[in-house]
Amino acid sequence: RAHDAAPTRRPFSRVTPDDLSFFSDLLPGRTITDPDVLESCNVDWLRTVKGSSEVLLRPKTTEEVSQILRYCNERNLAVSPQGGNTGLVGGSVPVFDEIILSTALMNRVVTFDSISGILTCQAGCVLESLSQYVEERDFIMPLDLGAKGSCHIGGNVSTNAGGLRLLRYGSLRGTVLGLEVVLADGRVLDCLAKLRKDNTGYDMKQLFIGSEGTLGVITGVSILCPRKPKSVNVAFLGCSSFQNLLETFQICRGMLGEILSAFEFLDASCMSLVEKHLKLANPIAESPFYIVIETAGSSAAHDEEKLHNFLDKVMASSLVVDGTVATEEAKIKALWSIRERITEALRHDGYTYKYDISLPLEKIYDLVTDMREHLGNQAKNVVGYGHVGDGNLHLNITSPRKDAALLSAIEPYVYEWTWKWQGSISAEHGLGLKKRNYIYYSKSQEAVRLMRDFKIMLDPKGILNPYKTLPDNVR
Ligand code: FAD
Ligand code: MLT
Ligand code: ZN
Repeated sequence: RAHDAAPTRRPFSRVTPDDLSFFSDLLPGRTITDPDVLESCNVDWLRTVKGSSEVLLRPKTTEEVSQILRYCNERNLAVSPQGGNTGLVGGSVPVFDEIILSTALMNRVVTFDSISGILTCQAGCVLESLSQYVEERDFIMPLDLGAKGSCHIGGNVSTNAGGLRLLRYGSLRGTVLGLEVVLADGRVLDCLAKLRKDNTGYDMKQLFIGSEGTLGVITGVSILCPRKPKSVNVAFLGCSSFQNLLETFQICRGMLGEILSAFEFLDASCMSLVEKHLKLANPIAESPFYIVIETAGSSAAHDEEKLHNFLDKVMASSLVVDGTVATEEAKIKALWSIRERITEALRHDGYTYKYDISLPLEKIYDLVTDMREHLGNQAKNVVGYGHVGDGNLHLNITSPRKDAALLSAIEPYVYEWTWKWQGSISAEHGLGLKKRNYIYYSKSQEAVRLMRDFKIMLDPKGILNPYKTLPDNVR
């Protein structure tokens, strides 16, 4: 069965001149029909999915979002919510002519409590701007990812983004304390609690975390920020096998304990790509695998002592064959760039088939090795990197151009492989358009039916981000 088949347009209304004049009255100067501006909002970051929307709306307030959705729901106009458009599963752009509702102008911090560390802001705040804002107040955001310069906090919550700090601070399901959401019919759901603890019935906000714009538009977020660590170290290490890398991880958790804030990996093919396409230099001797370890603590002397004891141990036992450590900010950034910019290097390498898989740790790299063998010379590159600490592999396959034969060699093979080991076919990126029909590899029929029931209850006309997340057969 062709799971990746393009959907057919559902019978939504088409935007008329009357609709445009309603939007222009509501959002003067912020109802965009200029084809040049629309071009970039219609195409995803990977440049693999392209819609044909003719209208981009840029509300500034929750009340404006509410009026837009009330109107669209009555008129049966489909809407595609968009944040920073850095999503990697084709969820953030229209498939046909859906109206693009952008949060770009909803970028105000509402409150920050410097005792509790609770930040409340509009959904369109760029993650990096929020990081700067809270860092000036001696806090950090509980999440960090390579797309920080563009992605919005509302987009992060809608995809339940994981990123580089999840190992330490947990997922957004724990750190997001409250949400404000506009439902498909324009009702405003105020769950913007600023409380650590609140057991008053069902936790409604959880339904919207990771719902990829299919159940409501998130307009406000309150989130718990950790204190800014006084001391940060980054170690970049080389390992000669994946088994050694896993043993290093075990020892690392034991010896660094509470100060460990990230444990990431990349393979030698990723290193070659960042060297080739981004001209980044490998700071250590060539190895089959590389690890990025970050520690974040409150005492430089204590943290350095722990880190050095750990490094002595893993180097003495030859689990790690070479390494370098950074304590000052510029070098820390440079080491992190090698890991964070793999996504960008891959885009330079060609058309990228991206897989974001959760697997039992001991199986994690076997998928890459097996896929290399399975594809032979059909692929340009088959690479593996990701969040070892979270059991999350990013398997990426490049090709000089879009290649249907290559795709059918990869899918559903990759999903069957994942299912066999009880993994997840989407660890952190979501399902979007690209993976919607593969949901059954990771969720039961009953769970998917319940998802459909929620969808029908909250968005009976299905105007919110149609063709995304839910499989075609449960509409
Ligand atoms: P968009 O891409 O605009 O949208 C993503 C989805 O959320 C879409 O379905 C959209 O409809 C919906 N949406 C957006 N805003 C709202 C809203 N306010 N209300 C309702 N729905 C909304 N992901 C990770 O998990 N971990 C990573 O480490 C990571 N690193 C990345 C690195 C790079 C270089 C890139 C390009 C992407 C990376 N991503 C990562 C993927 C991506 O999911 C995140 O970048 C981010 O969470 C998306 O935010 P955004 O604002 O760009 O959302
Ligand atoms: C990452 O961890 O780098 C991101 O999830 C992006 C990607 O998978 O390429
Ligand atoms: Zn990731």
